[in-house]
Amino acid sequence: MPRITVTVDGVGYEEDVEPRLLLVHLLRDRLGKTGTPVGCDTSNCGACTVMLDGRTAKSCSVLAVQADGGEITTIEGLAANGEMHPMQRAFHEEHALQCGYCTPGMVMAAIDLVREDPHPSEEAVREGLEGNLCRCTGYCNIVRAVRRGAEDMAVRPS
Ligand code: FES
Ligand code: FES
Repeated sequence: MPRITVTVDGVGYEEDVEPRLLLVHLLRDRLGKTGTPVGCDTSNCGACTVMLDGRTAKSCSVLAVQADGGEITTIEGLAANGEMHPMQRAFHEEHALQCGYCTPGMVMAAIDLVREDPHPSEEAVREGLEGNLCRCTGYCNIVRAVRRGAEDMAVRPS
């Protein structure tokens, strides 16, 4: 069984993994990172989005062995010193969630989007998040939250 090393939310792990193990299952079932949900398992919904080496990745479509040596950030690694990341706070304050199932992936995708486009228009947010589906269809508040999070990230980048 291959042995891999990964850093997840700042902590290093060394794990023996079956070659077929998906990254999302490594995160959830082996490392206890259950903040990253599985919404579809077919790379459609974006719920499982994490950062892999600084860019978003749908962790249900990446094998754990492909992440060997990688640095992964999940929704659980965003808060710092007991304070939510500005994008998390914006989602909270704009009520940008209903059931919350899509929220971890939305937040991760939104942060990546804002790093590319620090002041995104409504259209840019809608286009940038088209790989993330909200089954509760709360898109208006999500778009508002991403734009507010973008402004807050400009003030306090992270
Ligand atoms: S669970 Fe990964 S894209 Fe839906
Ligand atoms: S808040 Fe329920 S799926 Fe998005």
